[in-house]
Amino acid sequence: MAKPISIEVWNPSGRYRVISTKPMPGTRWIKLLTDQDCRVEICTEQKTILSVEDILALIGTKCDGVIGQLTEDWGDVLFSALKRAGGTAFSNMAVGYNNVDVDAATKNGIAVGNTPGVLTETTAELAASLSLAAARRIVEADQFMRAGLYDGWLPHLFVGNLLKGQTVGVIGAGRIGSAYARMMIEGFKMNLIYYDLYQATRLEKFVTAYGQFLKANGEQPVTWKRAATMEDVLREADVISLHPILDKTTYHLINKERLAIMKKEAVLVNCSRGPVVHEVDLVEHLRANPMFRVGLDVFEDEPYMKPGLAEMKNAVVVPHIASASKWTREGMATLAALNVLGKIKGYPVWHNPNLVEPFLDENSVPPPAAPSIVNAKQLGLPTAKL
Ligand code: DGY
Repeated sequence: MAKPISIEVWNPSGRYRVISTKPMPGTRWIKLLTDQDCRVEICTEQKTILSVEDILALIGTKCDGVIGQLTEDWGDVLFSALKRAGGTAFSNMAVGYNNVDVDAATKNGIAVGNTPGVLTETTAELAASLSLAAARRIVEADQFMRAGLYDGWLPHLFVGNLLKGQTVGVIGAGRIGSAYARMMIEGFKMNLIYYDLYQATRLEKFVTAYGQFLKANGEQPVTWKRAATMEDVLREADVISLHPILDKTTYHLINKERLAIMKKEAVLVNCSRGPVVHEVDLVEHLRANPMFRVGLDVFEDEPYMKPGLAEMKNAVVVPHIASASKWTREGMATLAALNVLGKIKGYPVWHNPNLVEPFLDENSVPPPAAPSIVNAKQLGLPTAKL
């Protein structure tokens, strides 16, 4: 017999059974569900990554919806079990959903929610932090201090890169990539080169206007360029941040050959998904090029790092915390809960998943809609009228 999974129950008499595979930040998401007749069961198992078997045990024989995490493998096994249990809704507590087989969910009639719009700035801020930490060697210097090695100022001590006037390269200039670009341009007056299949018109307009403002104030204007190829960005930029989604076309986008065309003193940042970078090639490149630096929030075999990475002084590594601000994480929990609730209640899908503020205002009742359902079209779900 399968080992029982520990859970915490809210509103035991609620009509709809909703499971969260993890405790999530804040309490608003629980209240929103329990106020609408949901019995909420939160898995409190002391295990970071739940297996498919663990989640099957949680789903049981009657379950209306599940809020899951990006570390879980949501494929046909789980979606068909959820369907058998009478469920119709699943939401990742994440904007990315490469852990979810959306076709399998659609086949089983399950709506798949995600949480865009609430983590844009928080994630961009971490990419900016990693850019600075890597360029100015903050972590190395911190370790040096703590080891008691500092015995006086020296001209060569932890010399890094100046960002002002250099070029920031963005690969994938969507919501997060554009927010990051703006931070680096406004904050450090960097020039922009970006690669994206779509033109980032708003970002271009912003850089043009900011450049004019700087010029009018007697400062060097910033510039922008949309690159024809990703290689152009890699060749020209001094700091490069990766913001593509992970799919077949972006798997190992950064490999040995592409690392080789980057500047020897470039900074590379990845807050997207680990497998976008060929991590073994990266370790080799870091070893051969000590002035090349990386800031990584995500890893190819998360939670593990490829051998050698942990020893590289020119790498700053953090444990997938790009969205980890209190406001964002509570907002993600709220959006994920409302995705599940919206589907259970038969609400329409919100018209713009990037404009989610009305769902996040703690002092008002959220709109009767599911904030973001990625397979809404395939399932023929209606869209909320404005
Ligand atoms: C996401 O939401 O996809 C992020 O990776 C979480 O930090």
